[in-house]
Amino acid sequence: MQDAFDALKSLVEKHGQSHLIGHWNSLNSVERDLLVKEIHSIDFDELRRLFIGNAKGTDWKQLASRAKPPDAVRREELAAHRHAKSIGEEAIRAGKVAMILVAGGQGTRLGFDLPKGMFRIGPVSNRTLFAMHVDSLRGAMKKYGVEIPLLIMTSPATDQQTKDYFAAHNNLGLRDDQITIFQQGTMPAIDASTGVILLESTHRIAMSPDGHGGIVKALSKHGLLRTCAERGIEHFFYAQVDNPLVTACDPTLIGHHLHRGSQMTTQVVQKRFAKEKVGNVVSIDGKTQIIEYSDLPDEVAELQNPDGSLQLWAGNIAVHVLDRQFLENCCLDDNALPFHRAHKAVPFVDASGSTIKPASPNAIKFERFVFDLLPHAAQALVVEGDAAEVFAPVKNAEGAATDTPSLSRFAISNRFKRWLAAAGVESEASCVVEINPLWALDADDVKTKIQAPSKIQSNTYFA
Ligand code: UD1
Repeated sequence: MQDAFDALKSLVEKHGQSHLIGHWNSLNSVERDLLVKEIHSIDFDELRRLFIGNAKGTDWKQLASRAKPPDAVRREELAAHRHAKSIGEEAIRAGKVAMILVAGGQGTRLGFDLPKGMFRIGPVSNRTLFAMHVDSLRGAMKKYGVEIPLLIMTSPATDQQTKDYFAAHNNLGLRDDQITIFQQGTMPAIDASTGVILLESTHRIAMSPDGHGGIVKALSKHGLLRTCAERGIEHFFYAQVDNPLVTACDPTLIGHHLHRGSQMTTQVVQKRFAKEKVGNVVSIDGKTQIIEYSDLPDEVAELQNPDGSLQLWAGNIAVHVLDRQFLENCCLDDNALPFHRAHKAVPFVDASGSTIKPASPNAIKFERFVFDLLPHAAQALVVEGDAAEVFAPVKNAEGAATDTPSLSRFAISNRFKRWLAAAGVESEASCVVEINPLWALDADDVKTKIQAPSKIQSNTYFA
């Protein structure tokens, strides 16, 4: 016992983090066990390197000065999209595709306490974001007559509630072997000026999720790349839980990915204005890369073509296709994904045991971003989608100018109204319309369902 404590003490002393066991004498045995486990989960050398090594961070200004618009398959290339769709459908039918949904974020901006996936967004059905995604996936399974495994990544903040939610709702219609809910890793928050690790309580370290880029490590740690390989999965369709307009395993995007022999493909939309809060998909020295809106200098964001359109036009909607083999290779290189530093106000417990709630950022949190895999791909591809069809994220509370629940519901209803109108069904402007993907997956499917022109005069849910 004493030996174990001495070893712990010398470990934290060696790394200048003795304060982590500063409250040891006041802890009970359960608390001590928890603390020991957390201390042993930390890579102190890595944390030190992150604190010192890259203190100035990336020189975004310098990098952005070399950014060019990416080479992309544009929206209007209709024949290419049609061709891609048939290639993608074949791969889905052959059982080579799985879906990844990242759902580790906490929905702080939305002001919703539960995992964001549990937020109700269906404009008529009132379905949750999770239900929208699962129905979309089940729609694809039904249409293509195939099993498509769903992998949902959670974080410590969302894991248990997500599991409870799926258990209480019969996995929203999926069998147990069709869904895997797994947890991403965490990183300690450190004091921004000294590099010491912050304590959340006397026996817990202030940990936060390691970013959606943590998926690479988590897939490998949970053995999911291996089990997917055993099931014959070769490609992952990746999406964020916050966007209800995602078409699960979109065959067109998957088809472009296959047709071009891409290892990582990303769907983009035309940015509406220069400083829109989306990542900027660009090409730097011939490599596709994403620069977050917060890192792109205004003067670069605002650069225009002679016709007044934005030079850096491609907005990241976080819908990607990734090859399993590519992910396996990335797992071998621990540094494939850099850590980004976020300065945040993180409450902490001080030496006297009091909780300090800083009013301004005092700490650095470290996160990896999945899109930083793009420059590692031997072949990466960018495909433009129509924002009105593919992107209506739920990010902000009502009242904000963008990405609110009501704007998202409006966009969902409008998309379905367009699909119905193309099939000869007009909707009154005041009506809200929703289509369940188990009824029709896309506008082409809707045409096969509608026998004669008609008019929708009240809120309608096609299910
Ligand atoms: C993100 C993208 C941005 C893009 C936008 C599109 C980043 C850094 N930026 O912005 O380029 O234009 O989406 O909607 O990603 N998540 C986890 N674990 C984590 C952190 C996040 O699973 O540790 C998940 C969240 O649940 C969410 C998604 O990743 O589904 C996006 O995270 P968020 O932090 O909300 O990114 P945005 O700022 O919205």
